[in-house]
Amino acid sequence: MKPRLIIALVAAASLALAGAAIAQQPIVIKFSHVVALDTPKGKAAEYFKKLAEERTKGQVKIEVYPNSTLYKDGEEMEALQLGSVQMLAPSVAKFGPLGVREFEVFDLPYIFEDFAQLHKVTEGAVGKMLFDKLQSKGITGLAYWDNGFKDFSANKALKLPADAKGLKFRIQSSKVLDSQIRALGGIPQIMAFSEVYQALQTGVVDGTENPPSNFYTQKMNEVQKYLTLTDHGVIEYAVITNKKFWDGLPADVRTTLEGAMKDATKYANDIAKEENDKALAAVKATGKTEILTLAPDAKAAWKKTLVPVHKEQESRISKEIIQEVYKATGFKP
Ligand code: LMR
Repeated sequence: MKPRLIIALVAAASLALAGAAIAQQPIVIKFSHVVALDTPKGKAAEYFKKLAEERTKGQVKIEVYPNSTLYKDGEEMEALQLGSVQMLAPSVAKFGPLGVREFEVFDLPYIFEDFAQLHKVTEGAVGKMLFDKLQSKGITGLAYWDNGFKDFSANKALKLPADAKGLKFRIQSSKVLDSQIRALGGIPQIMAFSEVYQALQTGVVDGTENPPSNFYTQKMNEVQKYLTLTDHGVIEYAVITNKKFWDGLPADVRTTLEGAMKDATKYANDIAKEENDKALAAVKATGKTEILTLAPDAKAAWKKTLVPVHKEQESRISKEIIQEVYKATGFKP
């Protein structure tokens, strides 16, 4: 064989090998979130990873970054829009800074009594309409995942709304939550989730609101003496992806991932209540935080103080959306 022909054959073979190697490179999806692994969202993200990797037979690799290890609040949405991360699952209370403030309807105090009411909204017209609003931001909404009902905590026993007066509370970046704390006579302070433990420890804030699973897994029981079972609101997540990335996936891969997301969503929503019940029992067992339950008249007092926030925030969220949610849940103001 002539040397030139040999060189040409070797070059062709190397190109073919390189091509095969590229073809075998998995599609990497970085999935960043801010909570611990041992939470409804932490577990559901891992379950999605397992299903997605198994069902795409290694064509897709999901890298889950929990506990704000990749991005924290205030950074992650921009990173998603820039394509530095492909999937997030922020609480719906965090879409205001992006300009989609209608998500804050979920933050209205006492608007949901239970998960069944919440699902009527996430699985209904409002849930879909909110996802449609994300498209113009370059974001595609994939699913809603539950965490649970929030309870107030502080180093002072919050038995009645007046007990919160003058206290500083950490909140997520939602104007509705800001208005909720002001209705209590408290001082709201927006802060990334990753900074809450230290802020409570050092007294930068006096209290906060969380579902028990977030409270326990962030060890807030070490720095909060009282947790009042107010159940005044929800932490609900929107699992979101970069639209351009998602639309650019091979159609069969996207369909498989949609199926994995559907099953991970069922898993997330099936375990959420139980995970929170277990976390509450674990907080109780530490003996560090006293858990206060509310008698019906005390609960009525919390509602009476907080429900006026609905009317006050009507212009921010839109009256129509609030009415739609009322219709779905049967809430009577
Ligand atoms: C919070 O910031 O309190 C929550 O949104 C954290 C989370 O993701 O559950």
